[in-house]
Amino acid sequence: MSVKETYVTEMKKAFEQTPFASWLEEEGVKVYEGFTVEDVRELELGPWPRIGGNAVFINLYPFMEAGNGVYVAEIPPGSKLEPERWCCHKIIFIEEGTGTTEVWQEGDSQTRVFEWGPGSTFAIPINAWHRMYNLGSQPARFLVLTKAPLVMKGFDSADFIFTCPHIFKEAYSTANEKFFTEAANRVPGKFWDTNFIVNAWATPLDEVPDAKAFGGATVGFRMANRTFGGHISAWPVGRYHQAHYHDSGRLLHPLQGEGYVMTWSKDLGPRPFESGHGDDVVVEPFKPGGLYSPPGDWYHAHFNADTQAARHLAFYGRSGFEEMGPRVDNQRNTRINYEDEDPEVRRLFKEKLDNKGVRFDMPASLYARQK
Ligand SMILES: [Fe+2]
Repeated sequence: MSVKETYVTEMKKAFEQTPFASWLEEEGVKVYEGFTVEDVRELELGPWPRIGGNAVFINLYPFMEAGNGVYVAEIPPGSKLEPERWCCHKIIFIEEGTGTTEVWQEGDSQTRVFEWGPGSTFAIPINAWHRMYNLGSQPARFLVLTKAPLVMKGFDSADFIFTCPHIFKEAYSTANEKFFTEAANRVPGKFWDTNFIVNAWATPLDEVPDAKAFGGATVGFRMANRTFGGHISAWPVGRYHQAHYHDSGRLLHPLQGEGYVMTWSKDLGPRPFESGHGDDVVVEPFKPGGLYSPPGDWYHAHFNADTQAARHLAFYGRSGFEEMGPRVDNQRNTRINYEDEDPEVRRLFKEKLDNKGVRFDMPASLYARQK
C-alpha cells in the first residue's frame, strides 16, 4: 500500500467511529468521499430534509483530520431553505447565484437581512438562527464549512449542535448593523478582521515580500470574532510555492487558474525523489471550483501551470477550541527553500509547463546554491 492509501484507510477507520459519521447516516443526505474534489459546482446533490433543499456532504479525508465538515447546498430559483441553528462555527462561500441571508437570535422580535453574490464569504454567528434565500432566476449554490464534527466528537453528541439553547449574546446581536458588512480596516501584512467578504474573486491582495510562492500576493482574514481564519492568495503564471508542512485542517479552494499540488509525508524527508520515495509523492491536479487539503505534517507545494495567475481561497479549519499558549510560526520553519529542494520538483514542473506551452518563470538566482 502506498503512503497515501495507508493514510486514507486509517482516516476512514477513525472517521467511522465518530458521532458525525453516525449522524450523517441518520440524516440520509448524499455523501461524497475523496482525497480531493475536482469541482464542487459539478457535484451531484440529493435531498436533505433538514434544510428543505438539495445538498451533498464532502468527506475530504485530510480536512476531516481536524474535525471539519464541508457540504455544498443549493437553493432553487426564487426559493428559500428552512431556518437553521448550529451550535458550532459555520462559514459560507457563495459559488453561484445571488440572494440574502436572514439572521436572528432566539427570542428576537426583529431579524437582520444581508445580501450576497458569487464569491461572498461570511460567518454565521454561533447558534444564531439563519435562513438562506435565493433572489435570482438561477439556482444558488454555496459551500459550507462547519466545525460540527469536532463539537460532536468532543461532547459525544450530535444532538447538541441542533438543540443547544444558549444564546451567544457576546458574539452577535441583531442590533449590530455592521456585522455583515465588509470591514474597511485592512492593514497590509495583518489579519483582516471581517465577518463578510463581498467577493473573494475580486478582493484586492497585498504583495508579500517573502511569499511562499515567488511573487505571490495575499490577504489573511479572521471571521466569527477572530476564531476562524483563512486567506485569499494569488501567484503568477509559471511559478510555484516553496514546499512546507504544518498541522491539518487547511482547505484550499481554487478560484482561478489550473495547476497541481504536490504533497508527501514529512517522514519521507525534504528530498523524497532523491531518497527513492518518488512513488509516494502525491500529485493532484486542481482547477477552479476544486477542493483539496494537505494531510497534517505533509509537505505540500502549489504549482501554477496555467496561462493566468492562480488564485486560491484558503480556510484554516482551526477554531478557538484549539489555540492556546505561545504560538510558533512553524510554517516558516518547515519551508524548503528553492535552493534546497529536490531537483526533481523543478524538473517535473518544467515538463508540465512545456507540455502546455507555458514559460517557466522562476529566476535562476533562486536556485543559486543548488548543485
Ligand atoms: Fe500550507
